[in-house]
Amino acid sequence: MKNTIILSGLAAFIQVNAQQTVMPKLKDAAAFPVAFAIDPVRVRTNDLFRRTVLEHADGITATNCMKPSRISRQKGTFDFAEADELIAFAQANGKRVHGHTLVWYIDTAPAWMKQIRDSTQLENVLNGYIRTVGSHFKGKVASWDVVNEAFDNKTGAIRTDSIGHNGKTNLNLGRILGKDYVARMFQYAHQADPGALLFYNEYGQETNPAKLDAVIGMVADFKKRGIPIHGLGLQMHINIDTPDAGIEHALRKSSETGLMVHISELDISMNTAKTKPFKPTAEQLEAQYRKYRFVADAYKRLVPKAQQFGITTWGIADADSWIPGFCSCEDYPLLFDQGYQPKKALTGFVEGL
Ligand code: XIL
Repeated sequence: MKNTIILSGLAAFIQVNAQQTVMPKLKDAAAFPVAFAIDPVRVRTNDLFRRTVLEHADGITATNCMKPSRISRQKGTFDFAEADELIAFAQANGKRVHGHTLVWYIDTAPAWMKQIRDSTQLENVLNGYIRTVGSHFKGKVASWDVVNEAFDNKTGAIRTDSIGHNGKTNLNLGRILGKDYVARMFQYAHQADPGALLFYNEYGQETNPAKLDAVIGMVADFKKRGIPIHGLGLQMHINIDTPDAGIEHALRKSSETGLMVHISELDISMNTAKTKPFKPTAEQLEAQYRKYRFVADAYKRLVPKAQQFGITTWGIADADSWIPGFCSCEDYPLLFDQGYQPKKALTGFVEGL
């Protein structure tokens, strides 16, 4: 259970003396689980990184090491070494593990899987993959993102093209398997690990109402048909200009489904012009502080307690963020800086919690 001492707002700062303020630990400040996406290499090699996870997080998500492209590099082979290392670390330290992700059309699909065009073959491969991986981690993960990013940005329908936001050709799940494939993946995941909470994970719900409605519609359909689904992941890769109303709307609508709601990959970019080099101004840092505070507060206000799966940030420190690689620019979207020191953003997040 969560720590019972819940500190909020400015009271969260414990004055040690007139000069020094100590930042409270996220896990102590939050009434719901707070987690980081991490991989085992940094845990193994960087003391400060490991200590930050231990001190601040209730749980972890595997950034990459539990993706199909890592677990099954070759057809028929399964390599759990890295993922098992991460799980051992989590278990030894009482951290909840959220599995990410069983099925995703984009770069996480192994090259050999992307070559399959036959629907029966692909269905069997994915069913087999989910069975093997789900059983391997049974009892070790609390939850899974079963399918990631199935909906098209423009139409809000299930994707039937294979070009993703990486600009490359990917696994064309919707076209090969038919639009109802998502439901079947949830059934396979439930068979593999009946105790795991099953999430549908998606991005852009806060700025793309068509996609948000499509996800909500899918949940209603699953409920009607008895397809097991327990939660919605809102990735929330946002920036300092993302409208607050859109964030609130996405949280409200997602909560209305009655499912668990997970802000699953939070980061807040400041470099909206995607320039390189980029040095944030004082105003941008202030805006990032305010936006982190807003997201934490909105989550707390709008998601009913029993549905609060928690907030996960996609990484710990700016040094490890995926955003610069993705935008080919410089950016500093996380709570800790390049040297793993707390940023003003962390203060904002704690104030909002
Ligand atoms: C990203 C990782 O952070 C990168 O290291 C990797 O190269 C690509 O994937 N949405 C997701 C995550 O669901 O899995 C992605 O993670 C970020 C976007």
